[in-house]
Amino acid sequence: MNDFTYCSPTKFVFGCNVVDRTGEEMAAAGFGKVLLVYGQGSVVRNGVLDRVKASLDAAGVRYAEAGGARPNPEVNWVRDAIAIAREEQVDGMLAVGGGSVIDAAKATAFGVPYDGDVWDFFAKKQPITACLPIAVVLTIPAAGSEGSASCVISCDAENRKLGASGDIFRPKLAIMDPTLTFTLPAYQTAAGVTDMIAHVCERYFSGVGAVPVTDNIATGLVNALIDVAPRALEHPDDYDARATIMWAGTLAHNDIAGCGRSFVPTARAGGWESHAIQHEMSAHHPEIAHGAGLAVIMPAWMRYVWKSDPQRFLDFADEVFGIEPVEEEYCPRDEAIEDAVTAAIDELQAFFRSIGMPATLGDFGLTPDDIDPMIETLRMSKGEPFGAFQKLTMEDARAIYMSAF
Ligand code: NZQ
Ligand code: ZN
Repeated sequence: MNDFTYCSPTKFVFGCNVVDRTGEEMAAAGFGKVLLVYGQGSVVRNGVLDRVKASLDAAGVRYAEAGGARPNPEVNWVRDAIAIAREEQVDGMLAVGGGSVIDAAKATAFGVPYDGDVWDFFAKKQPITACLPIAVVLTIPAAGSEGSASCVISCDAENRKLGASGDIFRPKLAIMDPTLTFTLPAYQTAAGVTDMIAHVCERYFSGVGAVPVTDNIATGLVNALIDVAPRALEHPDDYDARATIMWAGTLAHNDIAGCGRSFVPTARAGGWESHAIQHEMSAHHPEIAHGAGLAVIMPAWMRYVWKSDPQRFLDFADEVFGIEPVEEEYCPRDEAIEDAVTAAIDELQAFFRSIGMPATLGDFGLTPDDIDPMIETLRMSKGEPFGAFQKLTMEDARAIYMSAF
């Protein structure tokens, strides 16, 4: 087990109808006036925003509003929200939504105390040293932003989608009410589950060998998700299934599933290769949901790199799918290992398909002509080589994209 630093300062308030306690929890956490951030209307249509407002009113927490943050949130929206937050002199943020809304709120929170342009933080021109406190009412379990040290924002003008990271903007409070996720469309539910599994796998395949405590948390999360996702899709109001998915999404990305798996004690475990390759898809095509993109990219990445450390993939195959190589007396060892690893990756991809996720880049309407622009911005974003499990050049990334058609 390698050295690590684990910081999870968020207070998680989890349960049936806890959304109605938002106001009292916000007041207790010291929020006086917040910028209420939400997305493109789901929380208006399903009544969640009204419940949150009623709860804030009852607790005497004041608010200004910034709605309309889109999936794969855009920096211009953040710039406008920063202006509102300053004008309204808010002392914190309340994001009501999923990863996109939370990230839009996070970027606003560290943009407000900064005199320059907020994109500077994503272009790595400026470290983040000040930030308003952030609270979250989670409506879609997926990105894990409610407990994470990450924030991902797009800049359409540059076809870029870049992340910032820092414990300074981990949310102070997360209200997690599984009943709010009953209204989620099947596709969003499935894309969320896929993203969670990817968050676990990016850490599991970090290039560090076995770390039993962490690895059991990791494969336990994947097993739980594979188990309950079909139930949530079949019965969208299955509380236990929704609750399992919601908490798994937080644990998949608040770094508990990576302790001891990083080469640098202060850094997040993993090389995040699939995420890097997927983010370029959504940067150039903002209509592509992050999780859906990962359903295609992650298996392609796995097939490309597994030979760098077959034992890690055999551990995953065994713990998640109960697949072991056949014994040597029946099959040469190398062949048996390859068969077992391939079978496990096939199973994972079959699971993604079974919950309605795409299987190829063609399913998004992409063609091989779309790859060059993505490679160009990937090179700018990650440099070359990038990754941890296996160092990847741009030619490797191109081969991974091409293998996914
Ligand atoms: O915009 P609205 O109308 O709210 O609709 C949303 C959106 O269309 C809808 N939705 C949310 N809750 C709902 C609902 N519809 C019905 N009922 C509900 N209860 O779902 C759609 C997707 O929402 P979004 O927030 O985009 O999903 P997700 O949570 O997957 O977030 C994706 C974003 O997070 C980033 C991704 O790159 C992407 O930009 N990520 C953020 C991370 C982080 N900050 O730690 C890590 C991740 O790896 C990821 O990169
Ligand atoms: Zn993700």
